[in-house]
Amino acid sequence: MSKTATLEYNGVKYEFPVTVGTENEIAMDIKTLRAQSGMITLDPGYKNTGSCESAITYLDGEKGILRYRGYTIEELAEKADFLEVAYLLIFGELPTRVQLDQFHEDIKDQSVVDEDMKKILDSFPKSAHPMGVLASLTSALIAFNPSSVNVTSEEDMYRAIVKLLAKFPVLVAWTLRKKEGLPLDYGDDTLGYVENVAKMMFKKPNKEYKKNDIVINALDKLLILHADHEQNCSTSTVRMVGSSHAGLFASISAGISALWGPLHGGANQAVIEMLEGIKADGGDTKKYMAKAKDKNDPFRLMGFGHRVYKNFDPRARIIKKAADEVLSDLGVNDPILEIAKSLEKEALEDQYFIDRKLYPNVDFYSGIIYRALGIPTEMFTVMFALGRLPGWIAQWREMRLKDEPIGRPRQVYIGENQRTFVDIDQR
Ligand code: SDX
Repeated sequence: MSKTATLEYNGVKYEFPVTVGTENEIAMDIKTLRAQSGMITLDPGYKNTGSCESAITYLDGEKGILRYRGYTIEELAEKADFLEVAYLLIFGELPTRVQLDQFHEDIKDQSVVDEDMKKILDSFPKSAHPMGVLASLTSALIAFNPSSVNVTSEEDMYRAIVKLLAKFPVLVAWTLRKKEGLPLDYGDDTLGYVENVAKMMFKKPNKEYKKNDIVINALDKLLILHADHEQNCSTSTVRMVGSSHAGLFASISAGISALWGPLHGGANQAVIEMLEGIKADGGDTKKYMAKAKDKNDPFRLMGFGHRVYKNFDPRARIIKKAADEVLSDLGVNDPILEIAKSLEKEALEDQYFIDRKLYPNVDFYSGIIYRALGIPTEMFTVMFALGRLPGWIAQWREMRLKDEPIGRPRQVYIGENQRTFVDIDQR
């Protein structure tokens, strides 16, 4: 395989080194392109552009492969728990029992949030979207914790990471409880990480909390499946904001806002709203398939398609199976699951979707499980953020430890050429 790539323009040849990743991805290193040729590349949405070299997550969109630090998502979803996967993503290795227990103890020690944060939460109306509340509260954490992390100190970095992993679930639970008009509660240090999340979210003030292993196991698996996904929109946002040496909490807050969009993490809420709309409209899936294919209709089949997966999203496969299991274990019969399945069947047999390699993605079935767990639709993307937190942290840490340059893309200017100012009375 050649170690260089050559571009030719106007009869001049330019040579660039070629980088090959550990899974044989090939990249032309164009760091010297503008210096050599005066040219830049143009790639809206960065569909062909690598922003970094990373050792955290590998995915192959054609083969439907997803691995965290070399371990397949199928094995991790089956055999690991979420905190173990968080440790793996952030520090690069599966923890020993001692390391995992210590990690959890360190997190518990930091799981109290300054009471003044409740005053900030109180200022939001109940109608506020939970993603906006969560992004604001995460950013507000900066006021109560030193905003910049001394990345040259592993200890300082570890402390900031543990603080965020400890306080974020409390903010998630408070965001839900604010919306439901419930008292804001702290967790229970005797519980597991995800068990504690479930208790903080679901405990009712007038009832004895009874843990439900089906709910906890389903949540744990969903959080693992959402934990990282290489350079997606929100992770790239976290890296971009962090590249200016803004603090970890500020970078994560920016990532939450990017995830909120319906083309990205907001799709899990949009899928349920779409399925409910189809149900309310008589369940005519064929009508909505036609709308999805009509270029004059802005309607898209939410939960379908992916920038990278041109085959089944491996997470969707696992979540679809889990949806059936969780609903039957909980004795929930949700008619929109059947609508989802018939939409999926139709789409997989439809030439428009086949030609464009549009398959169900992670968001297509996840909302059905969240709904069965009693989580309100507007909280679905908050759950996505809770799952993605360790991935964002891992990517931010990798970028800062490698001291990568500040992100600052170029552009092709297509505006007015120079012109002379005209006084307002002459215009
Ligand atoms: C996530 O990047 C990640 O890794 C994200 C994520 C993660 O874990 O971080 O996996 C999480 O964000 C999953 C995606 C969730 N979003 C949705 O489900 C929203 C619906 N999907 C689409 O909007 C779309 O598929 C995207 C945004 C996901 C991907 O868009 P691309 O890669 O920019 O593809 P495109 O818009 O250029 O579409 C290519 C063609 C177009 O048709 P043509 O112009 O070629 O005729 O496919 C069509 C699109 O119109 N198309 C769809 C469609 N998705 C793409 N048509 C109908 N319904 C859809 N859902």
